[in-house]
Amino acid sequence: EKDVSIGLLGLGVVGSGVIKIVEDHQEELQHQLGRGVKVEKVLVRDIEKARQIEIDHRLLTTNCEDVLANPDIDVVVEVMGGVENARKYILEALQAKKHVVTANKDLIALHGPELEETARQNGCDLFYEASVGGGIPLLRGLSDGLVSDRIQQVMGIVNGTTNYILTKMAKEGQSYEDALQKAQELGFAEADPTADVEGLDAARKMVILARLSFFTNVELEDVEVEGISKLSLTDIEYGKKLDLTMKLIGFANRHNNQIEVSVQPTFLSKSHPLASVNDEYNAVYVNGEAVGETMFYGPGAGSLPTATAVMSDVVEAIKNMLLGVNGKKFVKPRFEKELTPSDK
Ligand code: NAP
Ligand code: HSE
Repeated sequence: EKDVSIGLLGLGVVGSGVIKIVEDHQEELQHQLGRGVKVEKVLVRDIEKARQIEIDHRLLTTNCEDVLANPDIDVVVEVMGGVENARKYILEALQAKKHVVTANKDLIALHGPELEETARQNGCDLFYEASVGGGIPLLRGLSDGLVSDRIQQVMGIVNGTTNYILTKMAKEGQSYEDALQKAQELGFAEADPTADVEGLDAARKMVILARLSFFTNVELEDVEVEGISKLSLTDIEYGKKLDLTMKLIGFANRHNNQIEVSVQPTFLSKSHPLASVNDEYNAVYVNGEAVGETMFYGPGAGSLPTATAVMSDVVEAIKNMLLGVNGKKFVKPRFEKELTPSDK
């Protein structure tokens, strides 16, 4: 069988991981799909830039049309970040009937409903498993595994950078600045880490989780957000004396017909399961009426974990394509009128 061709928009931390998985896990992909997967073209800003991985330079381009208008490409993987260009390129890809996989929570939090509607109209898949929880299969867990349940609460650590910083401050006495620099070097932080440390990245992820959990159009401005940039080593040491651990926690709660979403630094008792989630790891509790309490745990950022989530979406899109059922799986806002975010 002919290989399925994918096109990448971006070749940074996540894009490099995708190339590596396509190269190293070809046998697994072949087994799942009955054919290989190959990377056809990769959009970058600078072709000459030194890269962490070896790549055939003929695959690189600075012209987005080499990916978006390429008739050989069936699935477009957006791992470039940012909002405006990413939105434009994804809309163009969907209108050209290409399936799209993205890791971009900024974009999905702001424009997810519009992009999903465009995908639906064009009979295409739009998947974004990597946008929340890095390598944790969290969105599929919510939208497939718990699909019949009525979720009451989602609560957890959804930003790897801030968890890494708080862990290094608490366990090694590192300064906030040193720990942030290390998180950037390790590829966990966003291009502009302000979004991580001010809680905005976590807020975007909580918007996505709340939408999937409560089937309603939660918007970013509905979220009450506080980050960790004002915390000092003294605050953390003070908590430790009282057996408390500081974590940045996202909450999404349903109270009758109201939902409330927030992100805030929170002191947890040392015995709380989230208190021992360290470094770039994420963990999310989901409390469903029927299932009870479930917890999803794993690496929340980084090249290969995130690329694993991206590739799970690529495989699902290709499977759907081979079955001719793309664009069939959408979470429709069910409670648009009845369930509104609570007034602040
Ligand atoms: P990154 O390392 O900064 O890489 C971005 C890549 O996109 C670079 O290769 C860059 O090209 C390219 N790019 C950016 N803007 C472009 C434009 N306008 N035109 C063409 N190419 C452009 O970013 P990343 O960490 O891989 O993150 C990518 C996305 O995944 C973001 O949406 C991020 O939020 C999300 N994400 C990241 C992680 C993580 O752990 N890093 C985890 C989950 C989700 P050059 O290389 O030529 O500069
Ligand atoms: N900057 C993000 C984080 C990347 O630290 O969690 C993963 O979404």
